Amino acid sequence: MQLTLFELNQIFDVSVAEAEQLVLELGKDSVYFPGPVNVASEESVQEGVRKAFERFGRIAGCVNCAGIIRAGLTAAREGEYGFWGLQTVEDFRSMIEVNLVGTFSVTQKVALRMVDQEPFNEDQERGVFIQASSLASSDGQMGAVGYAGTKGAISAMLLPMARDLSRYGIRFNAIAPGVFYTPMSAGFLTKDAKPHEFPPRLGRPDEFASLVVQLVENSMMNGTTVRLDAGMRNPRPELINPGGGEGFSNAAER
Ligand SMILES: NC(=O)c1ccc[n+]([C@@H]2O[C@H](COP(=O)([O-])OP(=O)(O)OC[C@H]3O[C@@H](n4cnc5c(N)ncnc54)[C@H](O)[C@@H]3O)[C@@H](O)[C@H]2O)c1
Repeated sequence: MQLTLFELNQIFDVSVAEAEQLVLELGKDSVYFPGPVNVASEESVQEGVRKAFERFGRIAGCVNCAGIIRAGLTAAREGEYGFWGLQTVEDFRSMIEVNLVGTFSVTQKVALRMVDQEPFNEDQERGVFIQASSLASSDGQMGAVGYAGTKGAISAMLLPMARDLSRYGIRFNAIAPGVFYTPMSAGFLTKDAKPHEFPPRLGRPDEFASLVVQLVENSMMNGTTVRLDAGMRNPRPELINPGGGEGFSNAAER
Protein backbone atom coordinates (compact mmCIF):
# COMPACT_ATOMS: atom_id res chain seq x y z
CA MET A 1 0.00 0.00 0.00
CA GLN A 2 1.19 3.49 -0.78
CA LEU A 3 1.69 5.47 2.40
CA THR A 4 0.35 8.91 1.66
CA LEU A 5 1.01 10.32 5.11
CA PHE A 6 4.48 11.52 4.24
CA GLU A 7 5.15 13.11 0.88
CA LEU A 8 8.53 11.44 0.73
CA ASN A 9 9.71 8.28 2.40
CA GLN A 10 13.16 6.89 2.97
CA ILE A 11 13.68 3.16 3.36
CA PHE A 12 16.24 1.76 5.76
CA ASP A 13 16.76 -1.88 4.84
CA VAL A 14 19.78 -4.11 4.85
CA SER A 15 18.32 -6.00 1.88
CA VAL A 16 18.84 -4.13 -1.40
CA ALA A 17 16.43 -6.43 -3.24
CA GLU A 18 13.57 -5.77 -0.78
CA ALA A 19 14.16 -2.02 -0.83
CA GLU A 20 14.45 -1.74 -4.61
CA GLN A 21 11.23 -3.69 -5.00
CA LEU A 22 9.48 -1.11 -2.81
CA VAL A 23 10.90 1.75 -4.84
CA LEU A 24 9.56 0.05 -7.98
CA GLU A 25 6.12 -0.43 -6.41
CA LEU A 26 5.75 3.04 -4.89
CA GLY A 27 7.70 5.13 -7.36
CA LYS A 28 10.97 7.01 -7.15
CA ASP A 29 9.20 10.30 -6.50
CA SER A 30 7.81 9.15 -3.17
CA VAL A 31 10.44 6.69 -1.94
CA TYR A 32 14.16 7.16 -1.55
CA PHE A 33 16.56 4.28 -0.93
CA PRO A 34 20.01 5.58 0.07
CA GLY A 35 21.65 2.15 -0.18
CA PRO A 36 21.67 -0.58 2.43
CA VAL A 37 21.37 0.40 6.08
CA ASN A 38 22.05 -2.19 8.76
CA VAL A 39 20.11 -1.09 11.82
CA ALA A 40 22.37 -3.19 14.04
CA SER A 41 25.36 -1.02 13.09
CA GLU A 42 25.47 2.42 14.70
CA GLU A 43 27.69 3.79 11.92
CA SER A 44 25.36 2.51 9.23
CA VAL A 45 22.33 4.09 10.94
CA GLN A 46 24.22 7.34 11.48
CA GLU A 47 25.04 7.50 7.78
CA GLY A 48 21.49 6.59 6.70
CA VAL A 49 20.01 9.31 8.91
CA ARG A 50 22.54 11.84 7.62
CA LYS A 51 21.51 11.03 4.04
CA ALA A 52 17.82 11.27 4.94
CA PHE A 53 18.23 14.78 6.33
CA GLU A 54 20.42 15.76 3.41
CA ARG A 55 17.70 14.59 1.03
CA PHE A 56 14.58 15.79 2.88
CA GLY A 57 15.70 18.50 5.28
CA ARG A 58 13.53 17.03 8.05
CA ILE A 59 11.88 13.79 9.15
CA ALA A 60 8.30 13.98 10.40
CA GLY A 61 7.84 10.28 11.15
CA CYS A 62 9.81 7.10 11.53
CA VAL A 63 8.35 3.57 11.29
CA ASN A 64 10.78 1.04 12.76
CA CYS A 65 9.94 -2.29 11.14
CA ALA A 66 13.31 -3.96 10.62
CA GLY A 67 13.20 -7.25 12.46
CA ILE A 68 14.26 -10.88 12.46
CA ILE A 69 12.94 -14.00 14.11
CA ARG A 70 15.02 -16.98 15.19
CA ALA A 71 13.01 -19.71 16.84
CA GLY A 72 14.22 -22.07 19.53
CA LEU A 73 13.25 -23.54 22.88
CA THR A 74 14.79 -22.32 26.12
CA ALA A 75 15.64 -25.95 26.97
CA ALA A 76 14.32 -29.49 26.50
CA ARG A 77 15.45 -33.08 26.96
CA GLU A 78 17.68 -34.47 24.24
CA GLY A 79 15.47 -35.67 21.36
CA GLU A 80 12.46 -33.62 22.55
CA TYR A 81 13.12 -30.33 20.76
CA GLY A 82 10.89 -31.19 17.79
CA PHE A 83 10.43 -28.48 15.16
CA TRP A 84 11.96 -25.74 17.26
CA GLY A 85 15.48 -26.78 18.21
CA LEU A 86 17.41 -24.96 20.93
CA GLN A 87 17.44 -21.17 21.17
CA THR A 88 21.14 -20.55 20.80
CA VAL A 89 22.75 -17.62 22.56
CA GLU A 90 24.03 -16.51 19.16
CA ASP A 91 20.49 -16.33 17.72
CA PHE A 92 19.24 -14.68 20.90
CA ARG A 93 21.94 -12.05 20.60
CA SER A 94 21.27 -11.41 16.90
CA MET A 95 17.59 -10.68 17.65
CA ILE A 96 18.63 -8.30 20.43
CA GLU A 97 21.01 -6.56 18.03
CA VAL A 98 18.56 -6.14 15.15
CA ASN A 99 15.14 -5.90 16.81
CA LEU A 100 16.03 -4.09 20.00
CA VAL A 101 19.33 -2.23 19.60
CA GLY A 102 18.36 -1.47 15.98
CA THR A 103 15.04 0.08 17.02
CA PHE A 104 16.72 2.11 19.75
CA SER A 105 19.56 3.22 17.53
CA VAL A 106 17.40 4.42 14.62
CA THR A 107 15.03 6.12 17.07
CA GLN A 108 17.86 7.90 18.84
CA LYS A 109 19.64 9.10 15.71
CA VAL A 110 16.42 10.39 14.16
CA ALA A 111 15.18 11.95 17.41
CA LEU A 112 18.47 13.79 17.90
CA ARG A 113 17.69 15.64 14.66
CA MET A 114 13.92 15.96 15.20
CA VAL A 115 14.41 17.98 18.40
CA ASP A 116 15.84 20.85 16.32
CA GLN A 117 13.09 20.82 13.70
CA GLU A 118 10.37 23.44 13.45
CA PRO A 119 7.06 22.12 14.86
CA PHE A 120 4.59 21.25 12.12
CA ASN A 121 1.13 21.59 13.71
CA GLU A 122 -0.76 23.56 16.33
CA ASP A 123 0.16 21.04 19.05
CA GLN A 124 3.79 21.93 18.33
CA GLU A 125 4.59 18.37 17.24
CA ARG A 126 8.01 17.73 15.85
CA GLY A 127 7.76 14.05 15.03
CA VAL A 128 6.24 10.65 15.65
CA PHE A 129 7.67 7.14 15.90
CA ILE A 130 5.86 3.87 15.27
CA GLN A 131 7.71 0.76 16.45
CA ALA A 132 6.92 -2.78 15.31
CA SER A 133 6.21 -4.77 18.44
CA SER A 134 4.29 -8.07 18.31
CA LEU A 135 1.66 -10.09 20.10
CA ALA A 136 4.69 -11.96 21.40
CA SER A 137 5.44 -8.87 23.51
CA SER A 138 2.65 -9.99 25.83
CA ASP A 139 1.69 -13.57 24.73
CA GLY A 140 5.00 -15.11 23.72
CA GLN A 141 4.76 -18.37 21.78
CA MET A 142 6.56 -21.59 22.54
CA GLY A 143 9.92 -21.28 20.76
CA ALA A 144 9.81 -17.47 20.81
CA VAL A 145 11.82 -16.71 23.94
CA GLY A 146 14.35 -14.41 22.28
CA TYR A 147 11.89 -12.83 19.85
CA ALA A 148 9.32 -12.19 22.59
CA GLY A 149 12.06 -10.71 24.77
CA THR A 150 12.95 -8.16 22.11
CA LYS A 151 9.34 -7.27 21.34
CA GLY A 152 8.44 -6.95 25.03
CA ALA A 153 11.38 -4.59 25.43
CA ILE A 154 10.29 -2.53 22.40
CA SER A 155 6.89 -2.02 24.06
CA ALA A 156 8.50 -1.30 27.43
CA MET A 157 10.71 1.41 25.90
CA LEU A 158 7.76 3.45 24.61
CA LEU A 159 6.85 5.24 27.81
CA PRO A 160 10.38 6.31 28.79
CA MET A 161 10.96 7.45 25.22
CA ALA A 162 7.69 9.41 25.24
CA ARG A 163 8.64 10.95 28.59
CA ASP A 164 12.18 11.79 27.46
CA LEU A 165 10.96 13.56 24.34
CA SER A 166 7.57 15.00 25.30
CA ARG A 167 9.05 18.47 25.89
CA TYR A 168 10.01 18.49 22.19
CA GLY A 169 6.60 17.34 20.97
CA ILE A 170 7.69 13.88 19.82
CA ARG A 171 5.36 10.89 20.21
CA PHE A 172 6.03 7.14 20.40
CA ASN A 173 3.64 4.26 19.75
CA ALA A 174 3.97 0.62 18.81
CA ILE A 175 1.81 -1.80 16.87
CA ALA A 176 1.53 -5.40 18.10
CA PRO A 177 0.35 -7.35 15.05
CA GLY A 178 -1.20 -10.80 15.18
CA VAL A 179 -0.05 -12.80 12.17
CA PHE A 180 0.42 -10.93 8.90
CA TYR A 181 1.35 -12.56 5.63
CA THR A 182 4.89 -11.38 4.87
CA PRO A 183 8.20 -13.08 4.03
CA MET A 184 8.80 -13.44 7.78
CA SER A 185 5.59 -15.33 8.55
CA ALA A 186 5.84 -17.38 5.33
CA GLY A 187 8.62 -19.18 7.18
CA PHE A 188 6.21 -20.86 9.54
CA LEU A 189 2.70 -20.51 8.09
CA THR A 190 0.81 -21.27 4.93
CA LYS A 191 -1.05 -18.41 3.28
CA ASP A 192 -4.44 -19.97 4.06
CA ALA A 193 -3.77 -20.30 7.82
CA LYS A 194 -6.56 -18.95 10.01
CA PRO A 195 -5.00 -18.01 13.34
CA HIS A 196 -7.26 -15.09 14.22
CA GLU A 197 -10.63 -14.93 15.92
CA PHE A 198 -12.32 -12.77 13.25
CA PRO A 199 -11.58 -12.31 10.48
CA PRO A 200 -9.65 -15.57 10.80
CA ARG A 201 -7.41 -14.98 7.76
CA LEU A 202 -3.86 -13.63 8.00
CA GLY A 203 -3.46 -9.87 8.21
CA ARG A 204 -2.42 -7.84 5.17
CA PRO A 205 0.44 -5.32 5.12
CA ASP A 206 -1.96 -2.54 4.01
CA GLU A 207 -3.94 -3.13 7.23
CA PHE A 208 -0.76 -2.56 9.22
CA ALA A 209 -0.07 0.57 7.14
CA SER A 210 -3.55 1.89 7.77
CA LEU A 211 -2.97 1.77 11.56
CA VAL A 212 0.39 3.50 11.08
CA VAL A 213 -1.47 6.35 9.34
CA GLN A 214 -3.92 6.62 12.23
CA LEU A 215 -1.14 6.64 14.84
CA VAL A 216 0.67 9.36 12.92
CA GLU A 217 -2.40 11.51 12.42
CA ASN A 218 -3.95 11.16 15.88
CA SER A 219 -1.97 13.37 18.23
CA MET A 220 -3.62 11.85 21.32
CA MET A 221 -1.91 8.52 20.66
CA ASN A 222 1.28 8.43 22.68
CA GLY A 223 3.27 5.96 24.77
CA THR A 224 1.18 2.91 23.97
CA THR A 225 1.17 -0.41 22.12
CA VAL A 226 -1.91 -1.08 20.00
CA ARG A 227 -2.84 -4.69 19.27
CA LEU A 228 -3.73 -5.37 15.64
CA ASP A 229 -4.72 -8.98 16.03
CA ALA A 230 -8.38 -9.61 15.07
CA GLY A 231 -9.05 -10.86 18.60
CA MET A 232 -6.24 -13.42 18.52
CA ARG A 233 -4.69 -14.76 21.70
CA ASN A 234 -1.71 -16.92 20.86
CA PRO A 235 -2.65 -20.60 20.78
CA ARG A 236 -0.30 -23.54 21.14
CA PRO A 237 2.03 -23.70 18.11
CA GLU A 238 0.55 -26.82 16.52
CA LEU A 239 -2.71 -24.89 16.03
CA ILE A 240 -1.09 -22.23 13.87
CA ASN A 241 1.48 -24.35 12.08
CA PRO A 242 -0.56 -26.60 9.84
CA GLY A 243 2.50 -28.23 8.37
CA GLY A 244 3.26 -25.33 6.06
CA GLY A 245 5.96 -22.75 5.59
CA GLU A 246 9.48 -22.97 4.36
CA GLY A 247 11.14 -23.00 7.76
CA PHE A 248 12.21 -19.86 9.55
CA SER A 249 13.93 -17.42 7.30
CA ASN A 250 14.57 -13.74 7.09
CA ALA A 251 14.47 -11.52 4.07
CA ALA A 252 17.91 -10.19 4.93
CA GLU A 253 19.37 -13.61 4.23
CA ARG A 254 17.63 -14.44 0.99
N1 LIG B 1 4.60 -10.74 9.90
C1 LIG B 1 4.06 -10.88 11.11
O1 LIG B 1 3.13 -11.69 11.31
C2 LIG B 1 4.54 -10.04 12.25
C3 LIG B 1 3.86 -10.16 13.46
C4 LIG B 1 4.28 -9.39 14.54
C5 LIG B 1 5.31 -8.51 14.40
N2 LIG B 1 5.97 -8.41 13.20
C6 LIG B 1 7.09 -7.46 13.12
O2 LIG B 1 6.86 -6.55 12.05
C7 LIG B 1 8.11 -6.13 11.50
C8 LIG B 1 8.11 -6.35 10.00
O3 LIG B 1 8.06 -7.75 9.79
P1 LIG B 1 7.67 -8.44 8.42
O4 LIG B 1 6.70 -9.49 8.74
O5 LIG B 1 7.34 -7.40 7.39
O6 LIG B 1 9.04 -9.17 8.12
P2 LIG B 1 9.97 -9.15 6.81
O7 LIG B 1 11.01 -10.19 7.06
O8 LIG B 1 9.13 -9.24 5.63
O9 LIG B 1 10.59 -7.70 6.89
C9 LIG B 1 11.61 -7.36 7.78
C10 LIG B 1 12.57 -6.44 7.04
O10 LIG B 1 13.62 -6.11 7.94
C11 LIG B 1 14.81 -6.08 7.17
N3 LIG B 1 15.96 -6.28 8.03
C12 LIG B 1 16.35 -7.41 8.68
N4 LIG B 1 17.49 -7.20 9.36
C13 LIG B 1 17.84 -5.90 9.14
C14 LIG B 1 18.92 -5.09 9.56
N5 LIG B 1 19.88 -5.57 10.36
N6 LIG B 1 18.96 -3.80 9.14
C15 LIG B 1 17.99 -3.30 8.33
N7 LIG B 1 16.95 -4.03 7.89
C16 LIG B 1 16.87 -5.31 8.29
C17 LIG B 1 14.64 -7.22 6.17
O11 LIG B 1 15.52 -7.10 5.07
C18 LIG B 1 13.17 -7.10 5.80
O12 LIG B 1 12.97 -6.28 4.68
C19 LIG B 1 9.19 -6.94 12.22
O13 LIG B 1 9.76 -6.15 13.25
C20 LIG B 1 8.42 -8.11 12.83
O14 LIG B 1 9.05 -8.62 13.98
C21 LIG B 1 5.61 -9.15 12.12
